[in-house]
Amino acid sequence: MSKLPSKAKPIILEARGITKSFLFQHKISTVLKEVDFCIYDGEFVSIIGSSGCGKSTFLELLAGISKPDNGQIHLNQQDITGKAGFLGYMPQDDLLFPWLNTMQNILLPIKVRSGNLAEAKGQVMELLPMFGLENHAQHLPNQLSGGLRQRVALLRTYMTNAKVLLLDEPLASLDSLTRSQLQTWLKDIVRLLNLTVILVTHDIDEAISLSDRIELMTKDPGTFSQSIDIVAMGKLNDTDQLALKGKIKSLFT
Ligand SMILES: Nc1ncnc2c1ncn2[C@@H]1O[C@H](COP(=O)(O)OP(=O)(O)OP(=O)(O)O)[C@@H](O)[C@H]1O
Ligand SMILES: [Mg+2]
Repeated sequence: MSKLPSKAKPIILEARGITKSFLFQHKISTVLKEVDFCIYDGEFVSIIGSSGCGKSTFLELLAGISKPDNGQIHLNQQDITGKAGFLGYMPQDDLLFPWLNTMQNILLPIKVRSGNLAEAKGQVMELLPMFGLENHAQHLPNQLSGGLRQRVALLRTYMTNAKVLLLDEPLASLDSLTRSQLQTWLKDIVRLLNLTVILVTHDIDEAISLSDRIELMTKDPGTFSQSIDIVAMGKLNDTDQLALKGKIKSLFT
């Protein structure tokens, strides 16, 4: 079991002893084994790990999209194991519906759960400028750039009103300039809206610059092997950042 960092803030989300296996072509493979994880209120944690180690599987379990074979997930001490709708989840291949415009895509989850659409629309109108979407409310997804589409998907996730957002490689498909602009924007907006975020990324620089903490996941079976407390390191200059990147890279080899 991985060691959990101790912090003064309250734990908002906690996963204990999570094990998940899949049956594929008559063979059972254990993707996650006795995984422990927690995140503190307002914390930004990135998960890094090689392809196929179980990062998306773990987020799906947290989101309640699937159930663990063993283990429990608690949100503010309430058992949410296998229950969807408690956390804001942006999947790895998040698709906006091509026939719906920005506003309709953002409001869709509220419509599906028969929420108050008029109230939500008012809230979205207020949030559009913060997400850089004020001139795009009527645009269809194919009329938006990749960066704008990700902002729409993020606003849709935010509108679930969840305290904790699970973001599975939200910036992976973007060119490097747009990606770095969105990283800065994401960092600011997370602070502004006081969000708690779990981000899956393959980009070590992105993880270092956005996170309070990085959790490294190793493979076969997937488990958290190292926890890197970025906050405790204080302000990192370019040299520190390069050294840390090298250290993280070496932990994969
Ligand atoms: N529904 C499923 N049925 C069978 N195997 C699955 C299923 N979902 C995931 N897996 C397997 O579980 C392992 C972990 O998959 P997962 O998508 O969680 O990896 P990942 O760490 O997110 O990888 P990537 O970085 O490429 O997105 C993979 O070997 C995958 O093939
Ligand atoms: Mg994945």
